[in-house]
Amino acid sequence: MKRFQQEHGDMIIKHMVDTVEGLVMPKVLKEAMVYSLQAGGKRIRPILLLAAIRTFNKDPLLGLNTAAALEMIHTYSLIHDDLPSMDDDDLRRGKPTNHKMYGEAVAILAGDGLLTYGFQFIAEDTFLTNDVKVRLMTLLAKCAGPEGMVGGQVADIEGEMKQLTANELENIHVHKTGKLLMFSVMAGGIISEATEGELKLLEMFAYHIGLAFQIQDDILDIEGSVEMIGKPVGSDESKHKSTYPSLLTMKGAKEKLHFHLEEALAALDRLPVYSSLLEEIAQLIVSRNH
Ligand code: IPE
Ligand code: IPE
Ligand code: MG
Ligand code: MG
Ligand code: MG
Repeated sequence: MKRFQQEHGDMIIKHMVDTVEGLVMPKVLKEAMVYSLQAGGKRIRPILLLAAIRTFNKDPLLGLNTAAALEMIHTYSLIHDDLPSMDDDDLRRGKPTNHKMYGEAVAILAGDGLLTYGFQFIAEDTFLTNDVKVRLMTLLAKCAGPEGMVGGQVADIEGEMKQLTANELENIHVHKTGKLLMFSVMAGGIISEATEGELKLLEMFAYHIGLAFQIQDDILDIEGSVEMIGKPVGSDESKHKSTYPSLLTMKGAKEKLHFHLEEALAALDRLPVYSSLLEEIAQLIVSRNH
């Protein structure tokens, strides 16, 4: 797994950066886009996408452009999430945030550029059929847009300073974080021509790892250090966000985390293919310290 992650993570960064470098656009826009793409990060979404393809015994390289597009869209969501009008954070992936480097206007536009170009990148893919590309782009738009991550981000902001119920909080997590992780796994299945039954199981797996991922993110915001997570600690508390630890206590949050891991692994067990790579990624999501 570590080898798969290392090799494919580096390949994705190089692929994204080389492609954006080759585009014609204002110099500062390119610099700002490349700055955040190169800043590091775990690359968990593209790795999940490629790992799902490998699980179905297909060539992971078939998903390279889709994986790169997904990471571009995730990177845009982080640039905007850090803006003064949103979480107002100064550090991301161990470096000053995009707006600290390039100013708010360019940071917003670099995010817009990564979002739009991500879709162009899939549209221009020459490995996949038009039918598969339309399915991927439709699902990506649903997962990233108002019915997905963008909607979740708005609900997250509306939830500040409020006492949310566990259901309301889960709904925010499912949308702001879960949906893009769901796309990661489902896209691997779509590219591999998985059956409807297999896609349903992948969706169930992804639902639970998506929730686990954001619960661990909330835990690390309290228990992590800046050196570990490369972003400020205590950001949620200072913004009066409801999180699993604030709602359920730290012990309750950790129990919930393990519940979702177990549910995710149970869905994988029902897949009729050998899925040890996906299982290892799920384990990594709950045990990660960055
Ligand atoms: C951070 O995502 C934002 C959340 C959805 C919790 P990651 O933890 O995947 O961030 P990077 O890509 O590794 O920097
Ligand atoms: C944001 O969640 C999820 C996104 C859609 C970017 P957070 O606000 O908790 O992410 P971090 O902790 O800043 O990475
Ligand atoms: Mg946020
Ligand atoms: Mg944030
Ligand atoms: Mg967070």
